[in-house]
Amino acid sequence: MASAPEDRSSLSSPNVIAVKHIDWEVTVDFDASILHGSASYTLEYVTPGSRVVRLDTNFLKIFKVVDPATGEALSFTHHPGIPNKSYLGRQLSISLPTTSIEKVKVFYQTTKQSSAVQWLPPEQTAGAKHPYLFTQCQAIHARALIPCQDRPGIKATYSAKVTVPSWATCVMSAVMKKEETNDKTKIFYWDQPVPISSYLIAMAVGELTKIDISERCAVWSEPSVVKQAAWEFSQTEDFLKIAEEIAGKPYVWGRYDLLCLPPSFPYGGMENPCLTFVTPTLLAGDRSLADVVAHEIAHSWTGNLVTNSTWDHFWLNEGWTTWFQRKIMARIHKDDKFLHFDAIGGYKTLTDTIKREVPDEFSRLVLDVGDLDPDDSYSSVAYEKGFNLLFALETRVGTPEFEKFFQAYVSKFASKTVTSEEFRAFFNQHFKTNAKVKDFDWNTWFYSSGMPPEKPQFDRTLAEASEKLAIAWFEVDRSGNMVPSVNLKDWSSDQITCFLDALLDLCEDQPLKLDTLKAMKQQYGFESTKNSEVLFRFCELAIASEDKDIVPIALRFVTTQGRMKFTRPLYKALFRSKMASDLAVETFLANKHIYHPICTKMVASDLSVSVEEKASILESPYFKVSVVVAAVAVVAGFVLMRKR
Ligand code: BES
Ligand code: ZN
Repeated sequence: MASAPEDRSSLSSPNVIAVKHIDWEVTVDFDASILHGSASYTLEYVTPGSRVVRLDTNFLKIFKVVDPATGEALSFTHHPGIPNKSYLGRQLSISLPTTSIEKVKVFYQTTKQSSAVQWLPPEQTAGAKHPYLFTQCQAIHARALIPCQDRPGIKATYSAKVTVPSWATCVMSAVMKKEETNDKTKIFYWDQPVPISSYLIAMAVGELTKIDISERCAVWSEPSVVKQAAWEFSQTEDFLKIAEEIAGKPYVWGRYDLLCLPPSFPYGGMENPCLTFVTPTLLAGDRSLADVVAHEIAHSWTGNLVTNSTWDHFWLNEGWTTWFQRKIMARIHKDDKFLHFDAIGGYKTLTDTIKREVPDEFSRLVLDVGDLDPDDSYSSVAYEKGFNLLFALETRVGTPEFEKFFQAYVSKFASKTVTSEEFRAFFNQHFKTNAKVKDFDWNTWFYSSGMPPEKPQFDRTLAEASEKLAIAWFEVDRSGNMVPSVNLKDWSSDQITCFLDALLDLCEDQPLKLDTLKAMKQQYGFESTKNSEVLFRFCELAIASEDKDIVPIALRFVTTQGRMKFTRPLYKALFRSKMASDLAVETFLANKHIYHPICTKMVASDLSVSVEEKASILESPYFKVSVVVAAVAVVAGFVLMRKR
């Protein structure tokens, strides 16, 4: 077999012995907030005669390792971690007495520190009756759930037997085989017969129910949310059919279910095979944010079948998926202008990211992650610079040819992994007689930092009204013009988002005056919108203007959901403001336990605060007293752990 690419994010050694299948058996212990059980690994001796299996682990306790065929104990070393690189975890190396052992079985448990799992107390669920757990393994957190060769360059199948309390339901990134009910427990059996990279292993357990929305699609969530979620995501089957047409290859994963998670889910969506995870901040009540589902569906081909070989090539997952998502949505709207409209928003995000969010080296399309934490290099660059590269190629060769090339790319690399250079070579081979791409500046696109080498020509028709309205409000602010009388009643929320984006752009160097903001609030009431994308942008606008009235609204927003796309920039904006800098830090410290561990880690780093356990700060669950606590914290003048 081909050897796995070098990947310094992993301490495993699949080029010695590779794992081909994992047979996982775990019990969920909500009282202790741990998973305990075992995993058996089917081995492939990639280097003949090898006697050592090396796996990644993090925050796991390893009890013993056996040869499951004989029950014989095998010796193992659980190496200490690398100083200052705790995110890489600890290598588990298992010595084999012979080279004929087919499997090894590891007995282990997770710990409370496990960065892959969030354990939610009942107060943080919609039902408020039972606890809940969900995992998030991308990029390198699978090793904190199960010992594994935690790198995208290695794919394995898995099966699982999961024991949960009898009130609970388990869902996974796999197909359910059967369910058994015992006295106090339920047991769920799962199978993922398509080889997947470790970052796609996923599980959620809680009081869950589902509504079927088509033969192969269901929407899962807590009972009180499920009707709303099923309505919001009712276009899923249509998205899936269109995706199959565009990819030119049927959906291979059997089921496509959605799980709408509690509000602390740190991403918009996660493409776990057979079961996409989504944030409840998509529940806008008008299906306007369902394009995230189109995005996760697109990953069923670009990402889950054709996989980035290492996190350096993450853009091949996300850039292609962003392109594919926009193609799906354009077909849903029966108008290619929607691709352009969405790409305009993406280009603004990219501009902001490169200007403000990321250090120079993370603005490159092809990254050099090395042994750094991949969570630190995550940004919109992979998505939007990636999309723009593909759009530039499509513009040169023409849409029909490029769409055919996409299908060829998917069939060529399906079930494999791919690097940027392999992609370039495949493209050049496919278009070797096409003069229009002869001089394409691949090296600048791939390896230079900063904005892309060329500016795209997007059709701006659908953005026109929004951009005009932004200018009108800008002139209200700067020239004292009359407040525009445009009625937004018939505007889509995408148009409103585009309006706010354009206005944020215009006000970049000088925020709006408070009077202008006040007039805008009176006219549109953005501060009470149900649409999280609109609320997010309005909060950004108002925080920049030091509008004190927005502070409780923004604090409520960041303490009632933990999606990093919103939570990180809003904490940062509050922190930068004059009016709420301290409050931002205090609110975060008072609420650090409500977030997913990844979100806690990232916000702590954004605000330069420590979240060490010894910083004993009042803790509060979602929806409860978080904002009040923050206010009390200021009054009482707690000594807070701040490194800044
Ligand atoms: N796979 C990503 C989420 C992810 C990336 C998690 C890297 C961890 C590490 C997912 O497909 C995604 O891109 N989600 C976006 C949705 C969007 C761009 C439509 C998100 O969460 O905002
Ligand atoms: Zn994605």
